[in-house]
Order: sequence, then C-alpha cells, then structure tokens
Amino acid sequence: MSFVLFTHVLGFTMWIGGELAGMMVAYGARDEPAQVRAGAFRLISRLYTVVIGFGALVVLGTGVLLTMSLDSGGLGDLMREPRLWVMILAGIAAGLLVLFVGLPTASRMGALAVASKQGELPSGFEVYRKRQSVVSKLSVGLAVTALLAWYVL
Ligand code: HEM
Repeated sequence: MSFVLFTHVLGFTMWIGGELAGMMVAYGARDEPAQVRAGAFRLISRLYTVVIGFGALVVLGTGVLLTMSLDSGGLGDLMREPRLWVMILAGIAAGLLVLFVGLPTASRMGALAVASKQGELPSGFEVYRKRQSVVSKLSVGLAVTALLAWYVL
C-alpha cells in the first residue's frame, strides 16, 4: 500500500499546486492586453486538464483503494477518527467539484480564450472565467481542509 499512499500524496500535490499556480497566472494576467490574457487562460485551461484534473482523479482513485484496504484490515480505530472522515468527505466533495464542474468549465473557457483583432475576448469568456475562479477557490479550499484535517484534528 505504500505505493498507493505515495500516489495519493503525489495526486494532491499536483492538484493543490496546480490550482495555486493557475490562480497566480490568472491574477498576474489581469492587466495584460487581451492577446496575452487569452494565451494565459488557454494555458490555465490546459493546466486544469493535465495537472489539476488528473491529480484529483488520482486522489479519488487512490483514496478509494486506501479506504478499501482499511476496510479489509477490519475497519480499525482509524475509521472512527474524525481526521479520516473529514479528509474523505472534504476530498470527495472537492474532487467531484473539480471533475464535474471545474474540468468542463476550464475547457470551455480555454476554447473561448481567443482575442479578436480589435483586442477583445468573446462575451461568454468572462462568464466561464468567473465560474472557473469560484470553482478553483472552493475546490482548493476543500482540498486544503482535507489536508489540514489529516494533520491537525
Ligand atoms: C484533496 C484531498 C485529500 C487530501 C489532501 C488527502 C490527504 C491525505 C494524507 C496527507 C494522507 C496521509 C498520507 C501518509 O500517511 O503519508 C492520506 C491518507 C489517506 N487518505 Fe487521503 N486525502 C485526500 C482525499 C482522500 C479521499 C477522497 C479519500 C477516500 C475516498 C482518502 C482516503 C485516505 C485513506 C484511506 C488514507 C490512509 C489512511 C491510513 O492508512 O493511515 N483521501 N490522505
């Protein structure tokens, strides 16, 4: 199980790190010209699919395997510990948010991030960018709550 545990840790490192990197890029691109902003958001969209979404999928998959291995060991004291339950519930909520809301929003946002010759982004772009920003903050908040719960509760 140590390889699964390693993959679990690698998964949430990619996920939380990717979210923070994406937020920094989005924040840094705020006052840039439309062409640069468009490029930055296309990159964020790719980051979301390749790093964040993949990381979240790995965390959920390995989380299920780890939980099943606890189960086969006869549940154990750990199952009664709040830190485990808070991690699992916050992790599942955050993971589902990333996979079912974040990923489609990010790919839509990336597809719309093309500046016109007049230096304007399509009107729909802002809708997806704002939704993406809310989903990112919520999911990274829940992921950090899961991590914090494990080490602090
Ligand atoms: C972003 C979300 C998550 C974070 C930050 C997180 C964090 C962690 C950490 C730090 C550990 C301990 C690693 C170690 O001992 O070296 C761990 C283990 C574990 N995680 Fe998660 N986790 C998350 C999501 C999940 C989910 C969704 C599940 C279940 C579906 C899950 C189930 C488990 C289990 C069963 C263990 C092993 C406990 C043990 O054997 O001591 N985790 N997780």
